[in-house]
Amino acid sequence: MGDTVRVQTNANVALVKYWGKADEEANLPATGSLSISLAALTTTTLITRAKPGLRDQISLNGESSGPGVDRISSFLDRGRQIYPFMGPVKVESTNDFPTGAGLASSASGFAALAIGSNALFDMGLDGSDVSRLARLGSGSAARSVFGGFVAIELEGDGAAKPIEVDPNKWPLTVFIAVTDSAEKSVGSTDAMRRTADSSPFYQSWVDRHPADMAEALRSIEASDFDGLANVSVRSCLNMHATIMGSSPPIFYWNPGTLVVVQTVERWREEGRRVFYTIDAGPQVKVVCHRDDAHQCRDELHSLSGVRTVIESGIGGEPAVQWR
Ligand code: PMV
Repeated sequence: MGDTVRVQTNANVALVKYWGKADEEANLPATGSLSISLAALTTTTLITRAKPGLRDQISLNGESSGPGVDRISSFLDRGRQIYPFMGPVKVESTNDFPTGAGLASSASGFAALAIGSNALFDMGLDGSDVSRLARLGSGSAARSVFGGFVAIELEGDGAAKPIEVDPNKWPLTVFIAVTDSAEKSVGSTDAMRRTADSSPFYQSWVDRHPADMAEALRSIEASDFDGLANVSVRSCLNMHATIMGSSPPIFYWNPGTLVVVQTVERWREEGRRVFYTIDAGPQVKVVCHRDDAHQCRDELHSLSGVRTVIESGIGGEPAVQWR
């Protein structure tokens, strides 16, 4: 063990979405969620011990100031309230994909910080504790502490848990159709607050969530691709309809988002094993059975409004190395 730890984590995409907080202070979600980790979207974070009494030194994608840096700083302060032996650190974090654009950079970013702090300060936290620590940074970060399929169940302890899945039964390719790489218009915390305060659909979104979670878990267990596709699409569209119902309204979609959605709906009618999901931004994640992926790849690239397509498999466990 040394003074620097290097952590690599993957972003994740929720198939059953979390939207809304039961407790904003503790960042406890109002709904459960279920995600898959994305091997192609990686955060690499170096965390180095600094001398006691020094201030944290933070850089995110080479920048030492900005909203992302402020969030990392608040996360470290918050972590120290719970684990006072977390000393000052130097953090150098980089994403190999657009930051703050609805591609879950906060998920991989805060998961890396939680994992790295646990290692660097020899905190002895188990996976659930690390997941809860990551959750203080962002709700979805609780899931990026693990690889593969991951769930946060509402009746649980607020930590994410990996779901045992036979990779041969779920050979998935995910295409991330990037329609705009600018930072999102309204950050998820503000947008969740506005949705809960003003959307007339919010309560029914929260109420029907347990049924969606149960259906998704059953579909995974039964290796039922169509079952998982149906509940994922429903969860995505119900979440976005609820968000759009806020006052003033919030639109994460752009015209390119809709082009991809309608194209994938047509592919589904043709019988391809494919579905889509969208987080708090205009990008569309197109989830394909690997055997049907070649049929989707070229067409996705040529759709109007699609700027780039990132191809990903399912990510594995985070990697930790001492320097
Ligand atoms: O983790 P946050 O606070 O950025 O919120 C994530 C919200 C969604 O990405 C839209 C859904 C989810 O479960 O990841």
